[in-house]
Amino acid sequence: MCASRAGTIGDGEQAWWKEAVVYEIYPQSFNDSDGDGIGDIPGIIEKADYLDELGIDVVWLTPPYDSPHADNGYDVRDYRSILDEFGDMDDFERLLEELHDRDIRLILDMVLNHTSDEHEWFQKSRREEDGYEDFYHWVEGDPDEPPNNWTSGFGGSAWAYDEVREAWYLHLFHEKQPDLNWRNPEVRQSMYDVVEFWLEKGIDGFRFDVFNVMSKPEGYPDGDSEGGWVGMEHFSDGPRIHEYIGDLYDEVLSEYDVMTVGEGMDITPRAAKRYCGPSGDGLNMVYHYDHTLLDYGEDGWWDVVDWEVSEIREALTKWVHQLEVTDAWNTVYLGTHDTPRIASRFGNDDRYRYESATMLGTLLLTFPATPFCFQGDEIGMTNYPWSSREEMRDADATNRVEMAFEEGRAEGFSDVQDVVRYRSRDNARTPVQWSDDDMAGFTDGEPWIPINPNSEDINVADQRDRAESVLAYYQELIELRHSEDPLVYGVYDLLAEDHPRVWAFARSLDDETLLVALNWAGRTSRVDLSEAGSVESVLACNYDDPGTDLGSLALRPYEARVYRLE
Ligand code: NOJ
Repeated sequence: MCASRAGTIGDGEQAWWKEAVVYEIYPQSFNDSDGDGIGDIPGIIEKADYLDELGIDVVWLTPPYDSPHADNGYDVRDYRSILDEFGDMDDFERLLEELHDRDIRLILDMVLNHTSDEHEWFQKSRREEDGYEDFYHWVEGDPDEPPNNWTSGFGGSAWAYDEVREAWYLHLFHEKQPDLNWRNPEVRQSMYDVVEFWLEKGIDGFRFDVFNVMSKPEGYPDGDSEGGWVGMEHFSDGPRIHEYIGDLYDEVLSEYDVMTVGEGMDITPRAAKRYCGPSGDGLNMVYHYDHTLLDYGEDGWWDVVDWEVSEIREALTKWVHQLEVTDAWNTVYLGTHDTPRIASRFGNDDRYRYESATMLGTLLLTFPATPFCFQGDEIGMTNYPWSSREEMRDADATNRVEMAFEEGRAEGFSDVQDVVRYRSRDNARTPVQWSDDDMAGFTDGEPWIPINPNSEDINVADQRDRAESVLAYYQELIELRHSEDPLVYGVYDLLAEDHPRVWAFARSLDDETLLVALNWAGRTSRVDLSEAGSVESVLACNYDDPGTDLGSLALRPYEARVYRLE
């Protein structure tokens, strides 16, 4: 293991992917260029200048591949072609070129764990065609009795009975997403070939979807837990996962200068260090759900519980400290296409929308980790007021709501409305609000998912024209992250650790120290941060006239400040 350079986080080596600000694009909701109501790749190209102005370095594109979209592209039918509604391979290549011309890199979402049931591999496998019999996890047995008690990430059993093969197959997500059998060397080679195919096109890396659940134990033992995701202890970081990831690196990834980030299910920092960092399998980074599961109670999805700032601070700080020990690099996100909108979930999307959205942006862009920003958060988009089952699109939320109706736990939409409004992944998937036009400038047609009625007030066109806007603040903070090395490589020191509302930390590199103070509350909070030193200048603040006496700071509702210390 390399020794870390004194006074830095990580292994002390500089790398473009450590310095990058990543921006996630969910194509169907980004920008529609042809009026079919579905965002597409030419639509992203139209916004390339916008991405450039925003200042981001890397686009993470969620799956653009051919797919029946049972789970919006995470159910891949053909890994080597582009979904018709998104465009074609020429469009993809043009996008890559347009981004590269602006010094923006592109990483693709790669779904290694499962395919669509419409993929030709599954079609051949269910018919037991030569060479494909073992491409998926098949178990024969009583059609009324699934092989074990594992549940799917979307609720219900993780097994579906296939009438063609007369056997059960495993699906850790939707039943149209059968899990590939990674024990089969042919499966591994086929997926390595897919990864190589895209690298040869010149892309800059991957986000690996649910990468750490690919290895399942022989015999599929029952899971212990009754609630939550049953079976997780058997398939998260499963028995052969390090062999698979290590081989993926050795066989393909090691040949390219790319960024890789794995989406870890139920992952701990201890497990993460075996995947990434100097002693890992070759991934650059992983990301976890510790801070975004805090509002789940014992009964999981239906059980919305309150969270405290101190819990989020603790969850994210734990990762910094524990990865520091192993020199592995960290990631940070607050929202993705799988979570509600961050201004609604962690901030106040009403009276303090500007203040809380910018406060959250400050955390994201000053934290010791590569930041991942989700489309629309840079303008402070909010959750949608879902009011009927017909409006919903998300495979996860609709499955749970349908089950609640079928099992008689809910009778009408009003019984589920509060949780759907809070939790549904559709909240993140309403189209980006480009203008106050009809359809928010997203499409000339009928959008595939409703547009938030607040697009009249919250939209890019309006914020582009105003110096005081969430968008202008994000631009400023992204620029700050690029110009201040301590924000990337500086050591993280938590200050006022027990404060119930203020999250404050220093980032120090060589003889420079920056201090970040965030008031995570809708009222003024006082804090004494004089232990950190004294202020030389204010680098960023989401209010006018921030005070500079660290001994008696009064932070206004959701105020965020970044100081340079003397
Ligand atoms: C994680 C993805 O982010 C999510 O959107 C998807 O539903 C599951 N993986 C299954 O692929």
